[in-house]
Amino acid sequence: MMMQRLRRSEEFIRFGCESLINLRPNKNSVPRSVSGFVTHYDTKGKLFESNVGNHYNTHRCLGRNLGMLQQYKCFGSSSASQIERKPLFSSLDSKDVSSFKEILGDKNVVEDEERLETANTDWMKKYKGSSKLMLLPKNTEEVSQILQYCDSRRLAVVPQGGNTGLVGGSVPVFDEVIINVGLMNKVLAFDEVSGVLVCEAGCILENLATFLDTKGFIMPLDLGAKGSCHIGGNVSTNAGGLRLIRYGSLHGTVLAVTANGNVLDMLGTLRKDNTGYDLKHLFIGSEGSLGIVTKVSILTQPKLSSVNLAFIACKDYLSCQKILVEAKKNLGEILSAFEFLDNNSMDLVLNHLDGVRNPVSSTENFYILIETTGSDETNDREKLEAFLLKSLEKGLVSDGVIAQDINQASSFWRIREGITEALQKAGAVYKYDLSLPVEEIYNIVNDLRRRLGELANVMGYGHLGDGNLHLNISAADYNDKLIGLIEPYVYEWTSKHRGSISAEHGLGVMKANEIFYSKSPETVAIMASIKKLLDPKGILNPYKVLPHSLFSH
Ligand code: FAD
Ligand code: MLT
Ligand code: ZN
Repeated sequence: MMMQRLRRSEEFIRFGCESLINLRPNKNSVPRSVSGFVTHYDTKGKLFESNVGNHYNTHRCLGRNLGMLQQYKCFGSSSASQIERKPLFSSLDSKDVSSFKEILGDKNVVEDEERLETANTDWMKKYKGSSKLMLLPKNTEEVSQILQYCDSRRLAVVPQGGNTGLVGGSVPVFDEVIINVGLMNKVLAFDEVSGVLVCEAGCILENLATFLDTKGFIMPLDLGAKGSCHIGGNVSTNAGGLRLIRYGSLHGTVLAVTANGNVLDMLGTLRKDNTGYDLKHLFIGSEGSLGIVTKVSILTQPKLSSVNLAFIACKDYLSCQKILVEAKKNLGEILSAFEFLDNNSMDLVLNHLDGVRNPVSSTENFYILIETTGSDETNDREKLEAFLLKSLEKGLVSDGVIAQDINQASSFWRIREGITEALQKAGAVYKYDLSLPVEEIYNIVNDLRRRLGELANVMGYGHLGDGNLHLNISAADYNDKLIGLIEPYVYEWTSKHRGSISAEHGLGVMKANEIFYSKSPETVAIMASIKKLLDPKGILNPYKVLPHSLFSH
């Protein structure tokens, strides 16, 4: 039996040596949301004046129109978290629009309804604001001027990158002015000796990867949204993704960012600099609540010649854990991704995405993708083969394939990276992004499955190598009954196991009020003081990240 499996595995053992980064399918990427804008400016002032007032206080969420409300209610977060528009923020008027036009020129002050509809709506179509204005600055100086103006008028703003965020952070809650940095998309410098790349915040992640490929380097992060997300958005959310296990989080790899109202120039390219507090870290993961990232300096990695990808099936979660431990021990220096999905996730992808098939012949409870990246083609491949063979012998793996070429590798990644898209197609999705001790990760999936019964389809997938579970609940629609069963249950469960309620997606508007499940009151108080220091009038991404009650004035 074992020999049969080994022989079978020999059929697919040969594997191309080009980097997978180029070959993960582009069709995987989410549609670009900010490009080729055409500005249609309406009659001066009239439009705005006629809309100031109630309409600005309307918030529509998850496709359900709540009408002319001063309150925001969202099924994406606990039913208790209703948000009031803060009256202390000014409402936009025609003079504001004229002032922005003086700073940016007419073309980059967007009032066109269609474009605003897109910019007001998040990727999941779950969060929707009612901003009447989007600004498209071209450089740091313009960002600085806009923010100074907004601060003086106390106009609330929402910084926006590729708008692929999954917690409602990138779209307005009410009428905040959208500042999208998509036009700031230049590579400024690349040092082939150090590997340090300096670029503007609006560069699309995939474009940076393509640029680096020509230089023989890769980005230290990779995620399914790479075709749309910006490096500035990645830094602002401290995005994790598929390579964190190898290259660490952006706290380790981003060397500096600049942010404003006042321009804080921290754009160094040094790897070591211990001169006082390293303030750039405040901007990494602060989700646009402290400043707007306009430039990024990031340490990239050499593109190595040998990349292998295995897709394996396991009977139970305990085997997945054991394989992870063994992979770290035996493949440690070449391990570059360790991702998992359960069978419910696999089914969803097979049912909702075209041209996808299960690469292994048997249906199993769990599937794992193991990617190795190294520089010794023969040795690296043999190592992975030996590892899989040993895992088969130990009964940890029931079936498995190693991609033989780039197309196969892309098709394996399509399954893992396509889950988010498949969930969108399946209906309503309640999304949780948890850090938990690896041994606990699947217990919450099972518990929730028992709790929800027939009401919904619960699935687990994610970055197992980093202890990051994506717990997703797919249902026909969004409803209060379901949300009442899921929250605060999931948060309490996570907190009880000393996990984090946001491993990599951030808090956004969805979880701003839930921060105490993962952070102590003392820690949150210091966060609030920092916010107050850097953004005294609270104009930057209000209602996001920190509890709304902390900022009533
Ligand atoms: P946006 O969505 O536009 O904004 C996100 C947040 O950052 C908002 O709060 C916004 O205000 C702020 N922001 C954006 N740009 C700036 C700026 N220049 N300055 C200050 N604040 C700013 N996330 C992961 O961590 N790992 C994954 O593997 C992953 N996979 C994904 C797969 C898919 C298919 C999708 C749709 C999303 C995925 N995400 C993942 C979530 C999302 O892509 C990341 O959070 C990404 O980093 C967001 O980048 P963005 O440019 O789209 O930012
Ligand atoms: C992923 O790892 O696929 C992303 O974080 C997106 C998601 O959670 O669906
Ligand atoms: Zn993820």
